[in-house]
Amino acid sequence: MPRFPAPVASRLPRVGTTIFTVMSRLAAEHGAVNLSQGYPDFGASPRLFDLVAKHMHAGSNQYAPMAGAAPLREALAAKAEATFGTRYDPEHEITVTAGGTQAIYTAVTALVRPGDEVIVLEPVYDSYVPAIELAGGVVVRARLRPPAWRPDWEAVRRLVTPRTRLVMVNSPHNPTGSAWEAADLAALAALTRGTSIVVVSDEVYEHIVFDGRRHESCARHPELAERSVVVGSFGKTFHVTGWKVGWALAPRELMAEFRKVHQFVVFTVNTPVQLALAEYLAEPARYLELPAFYQAKRDLFRAGLAATRFRALPCAGTYFQLASYEAIGDEPDTALAERLTRQAGVASIPVSAFYEAPPAGPEGRLLRFCFAKEAATLSRALERLARV
Ligand SMILES: Cc1ncc(COP(=O)(O)O)c(C=O)c1O
Repeated sequence: MPRFPAPVASRLPRVGTTIFTVMSRLAAEHGAVNLSQGYPDFGASPRLFDLVAKHMHAGSNQYAPMAGAAPLREALAAKAEATFGTRYDPEHEITVTAGGTQAIYTAVTALVRPGDEVIVLEPVYDSYVPAIELAGGVVVRARLRPPAWRPDWEAVRRLVTPRTRLVMVNSPHNPTGSAWEAADLAALAALTRGTSIVVVSDEVYEHIVFDGRRHESCARHPELAERSVVVGSFGKTFHVTGWKVGWALAPRELMAEFRKVHQFVVFTVNTPVQLALAEYLAEPARYLELPAFYQAKRDLFRAGLAATRFRALPCAGTYFQLASYEAIGDEPDTALAERLTRQAGVASIPVSAFYEAPPAGPEGRLLRFCFAKEAATLSRALERLARV
């Protein structure tokens, strides 16, 4: 095995193996039910697979245009207009990406200059901070607090300075399962009014909202739409996280900068999948049925948790359920998550993984369980959790 003969000066010295990889590996080692990483254990639509095969066999196997296959950008424009009432021009304002992660990375890389400040809300999805640091930006953290986990906009306002370049937001929110209300859009619009701040709005769970809620997208709010890069993911919406196809919507001025980076990060995303997704999107029922589909899973999981010593926190959206283990003990969440995987046979994610420093108090005694699983998988996990 060749070895590099000198020390490597890391650009991300604090980044190691992520907790998601660690927990999934531990789950496999111990035969645990894996409710840690956020992906479904059920199949996607065979119709979608047939469409991919159709386009492959029809010869659509060479590079798509840099911004994405035209039929998919048109389908995304129609979807955004139908859901948010906002018209995005497929030619200049929509780009297909290799998943939401690449869209987020590309937006940050395109917009953040060394020394620029970027406000994030903790607990924060793990890809944001490394992207900011690689761009030379300065991470500025605000805290979301239970039980609602919605931003304290006054606290966020106090963090804004003339150097603030981006505010990065995520609703429905991973890991807390919270979702914004219209008042949050209004508060963010007021906070950024008259500034050159750009909002990166991670909305990969846009179609997974419960109890009759409406997804409050930055694309829905006319003022925010003017300053937002809105990120979506087909992986989350059509149960194909391994396909890594997503998109970004943004006003032309921002999208022009986004595409300058996009073309050198991936240039373009695989063609037959894009064409298949374009056709599949023609029936809105395919994503409009998601709230009911996942709400049934949420309710099953929460009902089961009620018979354990875990206490379920409110869950307004996403396929994640937070549970407090205060009744079980006060060991650190990482220790409990490991012990549960080894001894009880259920893998989860300790919520401290989403913070720079593990939070004290009730926020530090939470585990995240993914309920994007077959009913039988959830039942097996619940039986085991009931014994803890
Ligand atoms: C909040 C959030 N943003 C972005 C992503 C990444 O989406 P994709 O798989 O499309 O890259 C995830 C995936 O777990 C997520 O939870």
